[in-house]
Amino acid sequence: MVSNAYQSGFGNEFATEAVPGTLPVGRNSPQRVAHGLYAEQLTGTAFTAPRGSNRRSWLYRIRPAAMHGTFTPFEQPRLQGDFSGGPVSPDQLRWSPLPLPDAPTDFVEGLYTMGGNGAPEAHAGAGIHLYAATADMRGRWFYDADGELLIVPQLGRLRLRTELGVLEVEPQQIAVIPRGVRFAVELPDGQARGYVCENFGALLKLPDLGPIGSNGLANPRDFETPVAAYENVEGDFELVAKFQGRLWRADIGHSPLDVVGWHGNYAPYRYDLRRFNAIGSISHDHPDPSIFLVLHSASDTPGTSNLDFVIFPPRWLVAQDTFRPPWFHRNIASEFMGLVHGAYDAKAEGFVPGGCSIHNCMTGHGPDAATFEKASSADLSRPDVVTDTMAFMFETRGVIRPTAQAVAAGHRQRDYQACWSGLRGHFAPPQG
Ligand SMILES: [Fe+2]
Repeated sequence: MVSNAYQSGFGNEFATEAVPGTLPVGRNSPQRVAHGLYAEQLTGTAFTAPRGSNRRSWLYRIRPAAMHGTFTPFEQPRLQGDFSGGPVSPDQLRWSPLPLPDAPTDFVEGLYTMGGNGAPEAHAGAGIHLYAATADMRGRWFYDADGELLIVPQLGRLRLRTELGVLEVEPQQIAVIPRGVRFAVELPDGQARGYVCENFGALLKLPDLGPIGSNGLANPRDFETPVAAYENVEGDFELVAKFQGRLWRADIGHSPLDVVGWHGNYAPYRYDLRRFNAIGSISHDHPDPSIFLVLHSASDTPGTSNLDFVIFPPRWLVAQDTFRPPWFHRNIASEFMGLVHGAYDAKAEGFVPGGCSIHNCMTGHGPDAATFEKASSADLSRPDVVTDTMAFMFETRGVIRPTAQAVAAGHRQRDYQACWSGLRGHFAPPQG
């Protein structure tokens, strides 16, 4: 299974084969598939979804996906999937990075749920997780039936060996593994940490651009999908599934990464966040942060996303007579923020790479006191450039209900609210 080749485009109808002559011509399921393979369809949208949003792929594989043992519960209590109950405080919440484990821990074992909303059975909402891993997945493959996985590495590279090919990602890149696609994670650097958004809702897609025009933000050609790559391996292996909020395991006698060729538009992909073409103000005042939207999952309400994936990349700040950092705000949406690289321009300290924060619906937040003071006296006669940064946000329509383990975690910053305590009332009405 060797290949680091990619196909360019977002949601394209790709066709790729690791062995020439694998893909049938003019039909998807011929009476006999070339080379003794099985044909199998994998759908990511309803059969009847409009053509523009319909996603499915045809896989030509050594053995069908149906071949495995009976599923039994797989105990991994740090990965959670029930966001339906219990009190949730409106506090601002922030965490230091999740510590790396001492014992060998693979990607599945290293998943740690921070919070979420909605439910997989409703195909709405999202689960928000961290991962901290120190071992390759060996003889174990994983798939998530509850949602597609948006993976945001912060420390260390990931080698994602999937049914549809191999994706390699490093910090400042992202990967998306579609719902149901089986994969194993290897750690080329021996350890890895990052963020995962498990999107229960409509598939992530590029936003419309409206008045921006045909270019800008994330461009389709910068999304990369792997070419077909397979292995033909038998042994005593394990298939782990996430299904309806919890993990299950089954014996499997072969590697499921046995797809020799495939065609279709339902496939994993990666994107380098450094290619994002940021749009901003060149006069005064900020546009809303939706100008930093990379991908979004639409809801049934036009213009209101189930999930927005937003980044804050390096960029020039040129707006005149303007408080240039993000403003103080309260939003109807709820925000989970993370930092992949460098520093975030709204926080002087405390928000470090690998850390995260939750600001839920109508909870006030914004620049800390030190940032406010600095920005209020900045020289606005010249542009400023923000470098060495890559922050991101998973912004959701529903309130992000933090897990009890996240609220009780030792790496939670219980003094987070103190970052605003230095903001004094300066109000001085004219006398007389
Ligand atoms: Fe915010």
